[in-house]
Amino acid sequence: MSRKRVAVLISGRGSNMAALIEAAKDKSYPAEIVLVLSNKADAGGLITARDSGIATEVVDHASFGKDRAAFDAAMQKVLEAHRIDIVCLAGFMRLLSPGFVGLWQNRMLNIHPALLPAFKGLDTHKRALEAGAKTHGATVHFVVPEMDAGPIIMQGAVAVRDDDTEKSLAARVLAVEHRIYPEALRLVAEHRVRVVDGRCLINGAPVPDAETLMAQS
Ligand code: GRF
Repeated sequence: MSRKRVAVLISGRGSNMAALIEAAKDKSYPAEIVLVLSNKADAGGLITARDSGIATEVVDHASFGKDRAAFDAAMQKVLEAHRIDIVCLAGFMRLLSPGFVGLWQNRMLNIHPALLPAFKGLDTHKRALEAGAKTHGATVHFVVPEMDAGPIIMQGAVAVRDDDTEKSLAARVLAVEHRIYPEALRLVAEHRVRVVDGRCLINGAPVPDAETLMAQS
């Protein structure tokens, strides 16, 4: 089976992008990262991508003003030019139009720094601490038009410590993100994920569950 061609969409430092690039260096990994696309020319992750010899493109949202559809169409053109099979959002800070999302149904993944459906949106670590959550973590899910919704492919959990700060909690969750995103992409690239009634069913060998991941963190 040929490796799936993946584009990673970023807006910032791109540490999840780097984790995907690292995983895909292994020739037996079922996906290759062939494109990193950013909506910001100064995204730090673009440098990392170029250093790894990966094609980069910038579609600057600012030059499209409020015309979200035109921005999405420009991105779609780039994705088609690179013959992309799967899109991974990794700290991509733009809302996408339903039309664009529909084109990538069950082929576009996102990583969110919380155990969805808890703590959708921003400042997830701060809010988890304020809520007194004892378990926190990260979620990889398929993208649907509603933000931070969509079928959950994989989650990883960390125990919240009494002395955690936003920074310390974020660091432990980020380590989990870097572990689960490549694993989730592997499952999708291997066609092992089926979406049934809004839930992901995973075929084949068992994947690490939240408890295992928590024990490791
Ligand atoms: C990550 O915490 C990710 O979960 C969220 O945005 C952050 C991006 O970080 N969607 P990085 O650019 O991958 O380092």
